Amino acid sequence: MIIESLIQSHIEEAVSVIRSLHTDIPETCIVLGSGLAPMTERCQILAAINYTDIPYFPAPTTPGHAGLLLVAKVGSSLVYMMKGRYHYYEGYSTQEITFPIRVFAALGVRNLILTNAAGGINPGMNPGDLMVIRDHLSMFCESPLRGPNLESFGPRFPDQSHVYNPEFIESLLKISEDLNMPMHTGVYAYMRGPQFETPTEIRALRVLGADAVGMSTVPEAIIASHSGMRVLAISCITNLAAGISDMPLSHAEVIETGAAASDRSIMLLEAFLSRET
Ligand code: HPA
Repeated sequence: MIIESLIQSHIEEAVSVIRSLHTDIPETCIVLGSGLAPMTERCQILAAINYTDIPYFPAPTTPGHAGLLLVAKVGSSLVYMMKGRYHYYEGYSTQEITFPIRVFAALGVRNLILTNAAGGINPGMNPGDLMVIRDHLSMFCESPLRGPNLESFGPRFPDQSHVYNPEFIESLLKISEDLNMPMHTGVYAYMRGPQFETPTEIRALRVLGADAVGMSTVPEAIIASHSGMRVLAISCITNLAAGISDMPLSHAEVIETGAAASDRSIMLLEAFLSRET
């Protein structure tokens, strides 16, 4: 009970700082993964705040991940953009890395768009491809819902049949067809990292049904869907997962391929946002 009210009061403190950024509260928040930072250069920034100036937002520690919350106009849509995200491998708990998502839910944000870099497991995937996530494997993710349940957000035992909003998935696939930018749909496997997987782990994930693997997104998606937010998640396949090719994996390759594919991801997101509003 004490922990619950403490978390609630932390959320309220962060909410009041973010609320003061702009008069209107956006309906949608986009979490920009590796390579998508250039999206912030293509939209009109109305307000910005460093994560370090928001109460209880942890400080990001990963190269390539700044720490800035923006209120931005993408076309005619008002959005929050998280430029920089948190990962479990940085040393934070899954509760800590999803604190901002709780805050967005409390602010009344209805839609969460998550983007990430991922390793391709499905043999049909190539570096540079995009995949809309239709489901995930969270077995290796310490649940961000562990601990006292915040009843005002959602139930103790939330259903996970549709963590990723089926209408959003359909709508994005239609857009990708119209723009002639084909995308995969698939299952994203969460791994804690920071080490990349071994070839044996990748073979195991493939047997379990994974199409791609990465170290983010799942904790945020679980928290967002718990509170009834509609979630859309897009992976940029930046490399073939361990053992699928003979190439050693590197963070530099992930950043480079992510950046090369960012134009396509951004165009799809822009079209998606203008369709939704
Ligand atoms: N494994 C885990 N995370 C990743 C990968 C990968 O191969 N590529 C980009 N993020």
